[in-house]
Amino acid sequence: MRRDGKTTSLWQDQIPDYESDNQALKSGKIYDVLVVGGGITGITTALLLQKSGKNCIVAEANSIGFGTTGGTTAHLNTMLDTDYHTLISNFDEKSAQMVAGITREAIEMIRQLANSYQANCEFKELPGYLFAQDEEQAKYIDKIVEASRKAGISIEYTNQIPINVSFQKALVFDKQAQFHPTRYLYALANAFEKAGGTLLQDCKVTNIEEGDIIQVPTSQGTIQARQVVYATHIPPGVNLLHFRCAPYRSYVLAVTLNNEAQYPDALVYDMQDPYHYYRTQDIDGKRYLIVGGEDHKTAHMENTETCFRNLESHVRQYFDVDQIAFRWSSQYFETTDGLPYIGHLPGASDNIYVATGFSGNGMTLGTVAAIVLNELLTTGQSPYKDLFAPGRVKPVAGFTSFVKEQADVIKEFASKWFSQSDLGELADLAHDEARVVEYEGTSIAMYKDEYGRIHAVNPTCPHAKCAVAWNSTEKSWDCPCHGSRFSCDGELLTGPARSNLEKINIDELEEADGE
Ligand code: FES
Repeated sequence: MRRDGKTTSLWQDQIPDYESDNQALKSGKIYDVLVVGGGITGITTALLLQKSGKNCIVAEANSIGFGTTGGTTAHLNTMLDTDYHTLISNFDEKSAQMVAGITREAIEMIRQLANSYQANCEFKELPGYLFAQDEEQAKYIDKIVEASRKAGISIEYTNQIPINVSFQKALVFDKQAQFHPTRYLYALANAFEKAGGTLLQDCKVTNIEEGDIIQVPTSQGTIQARQVVYATHIPPGVNLLHFRCAPYRSYVLAVTLNNEAQYPDALVYDMQDPYHYYRTQDIDGKRYLIVGGEDHKTAHMENTETCFRNLESHVRQYFDVDQIAFRWSSQYFETTDGLPYIGHLPGASDNIYVATGFSGNGMTLGTVAAIVLNELLTTGQSPYKDLFAPGRVKPVAGFTSFVKEQADVIKEFASKWFSQSDLGELADLAHDEARVVEYEGTSIAMYKDEYGRIHAVNPTCPHAKCAVAWNSTEKSWDCPCHGSRFSCDGELLTGPARSNLEKINIDELEEADGE
């Protein structure tokens, strides 16, 4: 199946793109809800709304699961990346209890939906382990225990963890879970269509005209809807939320082991910064250890191959690795205060909604978003409306400066034609290498592919004009400001940008030269 990068995740191996019922967009029809985006958030939201009696349509710009749902590590947690000590500091005890409750509800819903729709997604409830490896971490783990218990999480100290890594202090907590995300997604999409919903793939939303009936021009015609939900990981266009969400990349290996006893039957996390996470996944009789980590802010690592190398040496240090079967990376967004933004899109009319900022808990919080959005769109109310309100103001020191620091806004590109030889002289590139070069006061982003062909684009991100940087593992141009990503030819992979990088079409020039 297609995804937003060149690597292949464990969840995409031998899985074709989802085949929808191929219902065409009905011209003149007014849908109750348009959901933009076909990841776990969009598909679960659409399914719940359709079953609540709304007439829904999903518009996915590529194929469903193209984005982070295809690149997740599919942990299901009540213990989130933002721990309960931080949540109680940034919010209060009651809010932390609400987060523990709704994440538990989301995991239970995934179990029930997987059963109801026979998703064959290997849903499995497991304990989670968190371990500290130095004094500082050990002190912090005590704060996590105290705060987690206040939030209502069942958590205990333990002298044993299920992987062979030395530690000072460790915790165990029950009722976490794991599953196969793309099998689950496909089962829900199928259920949505069977319930009468319309699913359009390769349907790119190009604009939104607000009103009681929202007009949404797309690559397949104009969709009309009374309500719109942006389930696109981060909403498109320029919005307040882009200054309150920071994009990060995370790296994953799925490896086979020589020693069967080393596969943990649990979800395991260390406390390093960035932290590592470990779990086991069985797929059709084959067993993998999934190890992730080496996270960094998007477009802030000069050579992303280093992240995979570090991760590989980490896993080989503690496990008897037979084979690195899969390696991939993926994107997530962190918010200023550690909780997601789910609800009315700030600055938009009352009938436009959004869900974003799930940190590394996208499968759990994407499902939480679906529960909350279903309540908001069908009744106008939800017990979680204020807690997750995208318009809430929770300034956290350091975040504003982070966003400013990234805003390396570059000069406009003076449109100009180049030949392969011009470009070859500008940058002495090896095969499979990329660079941004300066030429007559402008910048050109160039990539020489494995066949020696140069791909050149204007590095100015069309979202807010920051300069993109090369991601050598996913072969993409990534924007450090708000996380838009583009292929080597400038094609938009993930928003918030709505359009491609400007492409410098070298072939046409060469034809013109020959005339
Ligand atoms: Fe905002 Fe690139 S994503 S400037």
